[in-house]
Amino acid sequence: MINPDKLHHLGPVSNVALREHHRRPVASAADGLGHTLSAMATDFTEETAADTVIESFAKTPDPRLRELLNSLVRHLHAFVRDTEPTIAEWEQAIEFLTATGQKCDDERQEFILLSDVLGISMLVETINNRTGGATESTVLGPFHVVKSPRRELGDTIDLVGTGTPCVVRGRVLSADGSPLPGAELDVWQANDQGFYDVQQPDVQPRANGRGLFTADADGSFWFRTIVPSYYPIPTDGPIGSLLNATERHPFRPAHIHFIVTAPGHRALTTHIFVAGSPYIESDAVFAVKKSLIKEFISVDDPEQAARYGLTGAFWMADFDIVLEPSGS
Ligand SMILES: [Fe+2]
Repeated sequence: MINPDKLHHLGPVSNVALREHHRRPVASAADGLGHTLSAMATDFTEETAADTVIESFAKTPDPRLRELLNSLVRHLHAFVRDTEPTIAEWEQAIEFLTATGQKCDDERQEFILLSDVLGISMLVETINNRTGGATESTVLGPFHVVKSPRRELGDTIDLVGTGTPCVVRGRVLSADGSPLPGAELDVWQANDQGFYDVQQPDVQPRANGRGLFTADADGSFWFRTIVPSYYPIPTDGPIGSLLNATERHPFRPAHIHFIVTAPGHRALTTHIFVAGSPYIESDAVFAVKKSLIKEFISVDDPEQAARYGLTGAFWMADFDIVLEPSGS
């Protein structure tokens, strides 16, 4: 195999000449011009294309990377053979992916949105959390972009004071039912208008709707917030155009996000969904699982309100979380 760097002293070498040289060693048959060329690499056909590209990855040292690339090429080529895109359509696809990348910044993740609306995020989550008995997982979503501030149990994550007051409480348990004291719960949610803090930097204080809590000695946690609203995923980028072109709505049912961790246990990324929320049956990112739909109960009891530092009626949601031990 020629190292192009070593040819520099021979003067300019065209790409064509280099490609020719790379092909020769694999050849066994001579053509009419006296050249010995690999049939696979020089006679590109629809039938051999995938095998040719896969062969080019044969020396990939990392076996998992080789497996991923082989399968990716196999499926992408099958898609292209199946749909036979025109050149214009191929260019449009490149432009779409380019725009998706260009829409990303520190607080906007358009590629996660793309993965979400295609159901890929949920498929990956579900494959990686085939749990028996543990709390079900769901998508991370694109708004976990700000570090949640540490808060004490019972604190509120609502820094604005509008919306319907709500208490969320529960316990973090291991699969055998034993409590997990010191479990960490990272929670984040949209406000009562359906916006995350990062979407309204001029309206909401930073870290509104976010908190990092530590469960107490018996694995219990509780915090105050407001009942979240359903909301549309951002539609001002290429994913919005995709939804528009396909006449899909962009809405997600009301939910609160959680990432729960505890030593010796698998981290859980999930939500609780507000039972009865609009769009509970047509989430734009396919993230609803029945076990994660929770009743938010109205409580009008001054004694209970006082216990949580509230006055007047409020809503309450219970959410016990079961984590799977690592390695099980
Ligand atoms: Fe969300």
